[in-house]
Amino acid sequence: MLRSIGEKARRFLEPGSVPERSSGRIINPRTTRAKYERIARFYDLLDLYFEYGRYRPLRAQLFEGLSGRILDAGVGTGRNMPFYPEGTEVVGIDFSPTMLSRAGRRRDRLGLKVDLFEMDVLKTGFPDQHFDNIVATFLFCVLDKAQQLPALQELRRICKPTGSIHILEYSWAQRPLQRTIMQLWAPWVRWAYGAEFDRDTEQYADAAALKVVENRFVYRDIIQLITARPAATPPGNTV
Ligand SMILES: C[S@@+](CC[C@H](N)C(=O)[O-])C[C@H]1O[C@@H](n2cnc3c(N)ncnc32)[C@H](O)[C@@H]1O
Repeated sequence: MLRSIGEKARRFLEPGSVPERSSGRIINPRTTRAKYERIARFYDLLDLYFEYGRYRPLRAQLFEGLSGRILDAGVGTGRNMPFYPEGTEVVGIDFSPTMLSRAGRRRDRLGLKVDLFEMDVLKTGFPDQHFDNIVATFLFCVLDKAQQLPALQELRRICKPTGSIHILEYSWAQRPLQRTIMQLWAPWVRWAYGAEFDRDTEQYADAAALKVVENRFVYRDIIQLITARPAATPPGNTV
């Protein structure tokens, strides 16, 4: 059964609901949520080619060695679920109820025990230092530039001091041919998913009091896996 924390979670949608300017265009998180509401039932089909041709080995790599209580932030339709390590306790959040209900169906099909909540990653409502590991696959490319830091700060808040945050993200290719292909592809990605390739999420890590312990390309020079840990903060400082 899909679980939701109802009004409390819905209220958390508010902070991100102010239109933000990024990459020269206005992005309204409400529009992004509406987009995912519309696209949810086609999402797996639209992504099928990339899922099987590109993403599945990356998802497997991402979850390697993760244990304990794990948050899958921006769980979507639950594409990461087949790779959740055995013996872990996973919670998935997403701000699109329709994406979540598809995730719920996948969870049931796979016979997993995963709690799903309708929540905004910018303000989750989880207690401080709640998770051992946090993963976010193709979430930050959907968040506006102005939301990168608040989202990282929120993930840092709910991550244990000994925990880690694992982010799988697109970035613009450096190689001219691949970059040109991406430039052709970008309008579709923007229209269909509200996603951009220019988020450079790792550059906000310091400001979020996170230490990037690894940042490597896992697919050509366009998909990177960023691993970060909470950095020690001076006493009295809150992030
Ligand atoms: C590109 S999809 C990726 C889904 C999944 N992680 C995957 O790897 O297939 C991005 C997901 O993030 C969710 N999302 C976007 N902004 C969000 C926010 N502020 N809070 C929670 N979820 C969000 C969308 O609803 C969507 O399901």
